[in-house]
Amino acid sequence: MELKLSLLLVICLLTGIMATKYDEFTYNGFKRSELYLDGMAEITPNGLTKFDEFTYNGFKRNELYLDGMAEITPNGLLKLTNTTRIQQGHAFHKVKNNSDGNVYSFSTCFVFKMLPEYPDVGGDGLAFVLSPTKGLPGAMPKQYLGLFGSTNNGNSSDHIFAIELDTIFNMEFGDIDNNHVGIDVNGLRSINATPASYFIERIGKFKNLSLISGKPMQVWVDYSNIEKKLNVTISPVGVPKPSHPLLSSFIDLSSLILDTMYIGFSSSTGSMLTSHYVLGWSFKMNGQAAALNLASLPSLPSEKHRRKLTSLILWMALGVVLLITITAFSIAYIIRTKATYAEVLEEWELEHRTQRFSYKDLFKATKGFREENLLGVGGFGRVYKGKLPGSKTEIAVKRMSHDSKQGTREFVGEIVGYSQLRHRNLVQLLGYSRRKGELLLVYEFMSNGSLDKFLYDANKPTSLSWSQRLKIIRGVASGLLYLHEEWEQIVIHRDIKASNVLLDSEMNGKLGDFGLSRLYDHGSDPRTTHVVGTIGYIAPELTKTSRVTTRTDVFAFGVFILEVVCGRRPIMREASLDLHLVDWVWRSWRNEVILDVTDARLEGDYDLGEAELILKIGLLCSHPVPAARPTMRQVMQFLNGDLSLPEIPKDG
Ligand SMILES: *[C@@H]1O[C@H](CO)[C@@H](O)[C@H](O)[C@H]1NC(C)=O
Ligand SMILES: *[C@@H]1O[C@H](CO)[C@@H](O)[C@H](O)[C@H]1NC(C)=O
Ligand SMILES: *[C@@H]1O[C@H](CO)[C@@H](O)[C@H](O)[C@H]1NC(C)=O
Ligand SMILES: *[C@@H]1O[C@H](CO)[C@@H](O)[C@H](O)[C@H]1NC(C)=O
Ligand SMILES: *[C@@H]1O[C@H](CO)[C@@H](O)[C@H](O)[C@H]1NC(C)=O
Repeated sequence: MELKLSLLLVICLLTGIMATKYDEFTYNGFKRSELYLDGMAEITPNGLTKFDEFTYNGFKRNELYLDGMAEITPNGLLKLTNTTRIQQGHAFHKVKNNSDGNVYSFSTCFVFKMLPEYPDVGGDGLAFVLSPTKGLPGAMPKQYLGLFGSTNNGNSSDHIFAIELDTIFNMEFGDIDNNHVGIDVNGLRSINATPASYFIERIGKFKNLSLISGKPMQVWVDYSNIEKKLNVTISPVGVPKPSHPLLSSFIDLSSLILDTMYIGFSSSTGSMLTSHYVLGWSFKMNGQAAALNLASLPSLPSEKHRRKLTSLILWMALGVVLLITITAFSIAYIIRTKATYAEVLEEWELEHRTQRFSYKDLFKATKGFREENLLGVGGFGRVYKGKLPGSKTEIAVKRMSHDSKQGTREFVGEIVGYSQLRHRNLVQLLGYSRRKGELLLVYEFMSNGSLDKFLYDANKPTSLSWSQRLKIIRGVASGLLYLHEEWEQIVIHRDIKASNVLLDSEMNGKLGDFGLSRLYDHGSDPRTTHVVGTIGYIAPELTKTSRVTTRTDVFAFGVFILEVVCGRRPIMREASLDLHLVDWVWRSWRNEVILDVTDARLEGDYDLGEAELILKIGLLCSHPVPAARPTMRQVMQFLNGDLSLPEIPKDG
């Protein structure tokens, strides 16, 4: 009880002392704890309340009253709305209690930024607002900018003053366009509005600017209570405050301003989405608001959007680069393809149209003359296997280098002539193709390749049987007879040898490469004509006269017969000496051991009489004296047993 009494006494004493302060006070500036503060209020160290003056170069949480979508981002941006439909956001700061009845001049400036979701399509806009309440009760989004609602728009008891940065053209409120700045008093029908633009000192003119350009812009609102004048000035960030305001209006705010006012921002979104940001803000009563430190404003909110845009630009750039690359490659490909398939076709060749192959077809047929398609390397070039596109005919393509300046026309003419030759024992020449420095001959494909492989290739598991050899010899003889006597003109083969005899799938021997060496002599000096043919098959008289005849062909054919029967090359190496097969067989003949020369791989499995006959024909054909050699017709007759062989002298 006693304790209670004494406590009460103490309280009474204290209140008595404090009561004196309520009677009268004068604050020439404030000290801490002199006032009851709430909300954002504080006494600054120099004695100003925060209501009088503030500068925010970026914001901290809890510095402003926020509602709706408004938020302070972690990096200090005031984000009034994001890209969510039909929303509003507010941010407010309290201003000094106006209880003394005076209306003060003020000045404020802020930097804003509007980022539309899609370029050039704005949301609703942003407004600087002076309001008696820190929320805006009844305010609506969309065209109402979060400032008014349908019930209080235009009501003079609202006490709301705003500078709208309106980006939607709204006839309802008498908007002038979709990009204007307006002064609103108690309603959205602006008392003064003008398209957004800024004064350029240099030219002395206003220049339009787009509020939703996504670029940060600075706005100055200056009110002089003495002049009752309100100026609104705008410029892109980086352009100093223009000397000419965009809007300048006589306006008396004294009836509007109540005891307690809040200043801040309002923004809304509709169906078009725009993010509205305030980056920095300064305010001062009875003086010029501090300039914002533009450099220290929070990093521009466009980052994400800009990144989007940048990445879009990057992607587009990438796309363009890709397109260019693809085009370049395509062009390169086309050029290369053109180069690859380029061929030489002269007018005179049109008469050979049926024999002419397109280089492209041959290129494709041989898979681009790939190594794996290489069948062999012959005397005049490389031979590739191929399959004609379309018909799927198997072909062999001989690729020869050819100086196109030298008698090409005759050359091609002869080739075309050879393609007329048709005999079951001649490899069919199907046609030709020509490109710069190159001639290509197309032959029927012989699946078993050349005879020499069967005779000498140790890898061939089975050797040729006697009957196969006989068939090949007969076949080649028949083909050569055709060349010499049965076609409309005499064709001298000039290069009969085992490697020029090709075997089809049934092991029929066919002569290939007929006439080529002759073609190759075209245009060269007759006096320097080199001996044509292959060493070992060249008739002895050719070294003196270089005159090829059917008999020089017969000589080579004789060597060929011996080669097939003996399974030996025309020039044998014995004890490091070159020994001619022909001489060796002659010697055996003289020594009466002719059958000793037969190929050991026959393992004696042959008809002795046939073998002796064939060897004797071979010797006869390869007789050193041309006149002693038979003609191919005679050879055929010997082979068929229609004509008996002449006696072959053992001392010859
Ligand atoms: C916008 O802000 C609200 C509230 O902060 C949030 O729920 C919403 O996800 C945001 N929308 C977008 C598109 O950022
Ligand atoms: C401002 O002053 C008026 C009267 O002088 C008072 O009624 C009101 O509560 C004050 N407001 C604040 C926020 O201090
Ligand atoms: C204006 O607002 C006041 C208070 O909210 C209300 O009483 C009055 O009816 C309104 N006037 C009109 C014309 O709507
Ligand atoms: C500036 O904008 C206004 C309103 O949109 C338009 O009438 C005027 O032609 C524009 N001026 C220039 C120079 O673009
Ligand atoms: C408003 O702008 C006019 C014209 O530049 C200027 O003379 C006047 O002093 C300004 N008033 C305020 C309050 O800034």
